[in-house]
Amino acid sequence: MPTQVLLCPPTHFDVIDQKNPYMVGKHSIDRTKARQQWQALCSALQDAGCQVETIAPAPGHEDMVFAANQVFVGFHKSLGKFIVPSRMLHPSRQGEVPFYVDWYRGRGFKIVEVDLGDDYLEGHGDLLWHPDCSRIYAGYGFRSTKIGVEKFSRAMSKLEIPVIPLHLVDPYCYHLDTCFCPLSNAAVLIYPGAYAPESLAALRSLWERVHELTTDEAHKFMGNGIVANGRYLTPHITPHLDSILRQEGLAPVIVESSEFEKSGGSLFCMKAFLP
Ligand code: ARG
Repeated sequence: MPTQVLLCPPTHFDVIDQKNPYMVGKHSIDRTKARQQWQALCSALQDAGCQVETIAPAPGHEDMVFAANQVFVGFHKSLGKFIVPSRMLHPSRQGEVPFYVDWYRGRGFKIVEVDLGDDYLEGHGDLLWHPDCSRIYAGYGFRSTKIGVEKFSRAMSKLEIPVIPLHLVDPYCYHLDTCFCPLSNAAVLIYPGAYAPESLAALRSLWERVHELTTDEAHKFMGNGIVANGRYLTPHITPHLDSILRQEGLAPVIVESSEFEKSGGSLFCMKAFLP
């Protein structure tokens, strides 16, 4: 069975309010280019052996194309496939969540509701599985809140899944997926400048090989790539990143995402892997 991946066409994609530093300033989106880039991402995922599923884009939800954020997706031996719906920080994004919850519910996913109260949790923007699914890394500080992550962590502990909280400190790395990318069970790509010292120390103790991106690489979303069947889909490459990927046995594939970068997102944010 091929790996399934969920994407949302960029039909209503736009940059309207300023939710992160990349969105500051005047940004007009080239719609034709955005569509081509999104299509190229679908093709690159298919070429890597993935099966692409789509959710219908809803008008008025300009960030719905970032399919990684609305829910956390998981699999548990007794519960089966499940999601944890997000509570997104920006009101303009909160309305995306029900569309995704309905999509997953319609495909048999159980809904694990975490009572977030006034706290926030932003799905796979901040919550990332270890590749063997033995634990979850959870970023907080800009979008997901510390208490939001603690509440999520308590819910996961009932399923016996440990959660590693990571304190994010660089506004350009407002989501964990901008500065953390597992390459295998042993190797991870990180941007060290994105973490508070104790979180960086925790990360270093948990991985056999920690590869570090430079500030420029991280802020150009080179850590927001997608690992798929021996490939690393990335919006840009440098000789430094190329050599890291080769060491880890991954072949780089460049997929441009300039239009989505204007919104503070790139390839990783535009999809959700399904269990
Ligand atoms: N404009 C979107 C936001 O600020 C971009 C989200 C990017 N997603 C991600 N997982 N990093 O919410």
